[in-house]
Amino acid sequence: MKKMNIGVIPGDGVGKEVMPEAVKVLDAIAEVHGGLSFEYKSYPYSCEYYLEHGKMMADDGLEQLKNHDAVFLGAVGNPQLVPDHISLWGLLIAIRREFEQVINVRPAKQLRGIQSPLANPKGFDFVVVRENSEGEYSEVGGRIHRGADEVAIQNAVFTRKGTERAMRFAFDLAKERNSHVTSATKSNGIVHSMPFWDEVFRSVGEDYQDVDTVSNHIDALAAFLITRPEAFDVIVASNLFGDILTDVGAAIMGSIGVAPAANINLNGKFPSMFEPVHGSAPDIVGKGIANPVGQIWTGKMMLDHLGEQELGQKLLDVIEEVLEAGYKTPDIGGNATTKEVTEEIAQRLKAL
Ligand code: NAD
Ligand code: IPM
Ligand code: MN
Repeated sequence: MKKMNIGVIPGDGVGKEVMPEAVKVLDAIAEVHGGLSFEYKSYPYSCEYYLEHGKMMADDGLEQLKNHDAVFLGAVGNPQLVPDHISLWGLLIAIRREFEQVINVRPAKQLRGIQSPLANPKGFDFVVVRENSEGEYSEVGGRIHRGADEVAIQNAVFTRKGTERAMRFAFDLAKERNSHVTSATKSNGIVHSMPFWDEVFRSVGEDYQDVDTVSNHIDALAAFLITRPEAFDVIVASNLFGDILTDVGAAIMGSIGVAPAANINLNGKFPSMFEPVHGSAPDIVGKGIANPVGQIWTGKMMLDHLGEQELGQKLLDVIEEVLEAGYKTPDIGGNATTKEVTEEIAQRLKAL
């Protein structure tokens, strides 16, 4: 029996609503598969934990999480109780950084059964490879200087190593897909880091002669994702550009509630972390209507990562079947609850 040891952090808000549902689905898969079982250890790290303990996770939190095959996370943030910069740096970003999860993989594709808000969508299917450790999210020197002449400073840091790593990941992924990489840039030199980004993109591209490349300015690219998303295969983007583009990707899929993501550790020293693109959705928390598809599809990415691609594909097929059958939460035009959608997915998996 293959055992997978998963560290689970439901986190805050709707994270706590969708996480138990996604776990039910993973258990349903394990049940039918036979040769597979999940062992979970759940961690209460969240804004509530912070209010009780004065920190977002236990002092040995990372040590504990490190022992798992993967970390499965819901969402972090309850800005009414804890400022976001405390909750995010104390948990979400801390794990991404300490576990060297240097790449964030975020697919966006038109799912069967969900109406895209685009008038005439033509079956788009692309993946954003987001640099996940530096860029505009750098900690170097960033601060607010108070006083008479207040100033806020934010440095963007692009190392050759980090930039090249993200590019190589994107090109390797493109080779398994449709051999096309788009670089999200701002190379008109206004942003000083971007000519460097372009230079690395060109030089890495030389090692992948069979992959087509194009560079688009980030502003135009954001618009192209609305006007012709079917033209894209793999998009490689800096930390902030990737963050923004993946909310656009989520929006054209129909809702941020369906978008999945994987924070990948490449050196094998730490587990990777799987968390959907959406946040804690304070505006719908407690209503039982959060879309569980993003968390469940994220579970599919975790299965893929753990070597269970066949099961992962089955899971995505069943998600689409269930959406097509009309089991949908209100954000994608239905009136089903979180639990009704999940129950249907779990039932159909068991019936396979
Ligand atoms: P959000 O993603 O939480 O919400 C944006 C909008 O999308 C809201 O209208 C919300 O109702 C909707 N939405 C989100 N998830 C949904 C789901 N599963 N089903 C249906 N609708 C859903 O983004 P925000 O409002 O900018 O941020 C809220 C909090 O979450 C903040 O504290 C923010 O920092 C945090 N956040 C955390 C993560 C993360 O943990 N990975 C990601 C984004 C935001
Ligand atoms: C995401 C989120 C995070 C990010 C925030 C909450 C720090 O928006 O995962 O997309 O910007 O990376
Ligand atoms: Mn985001």
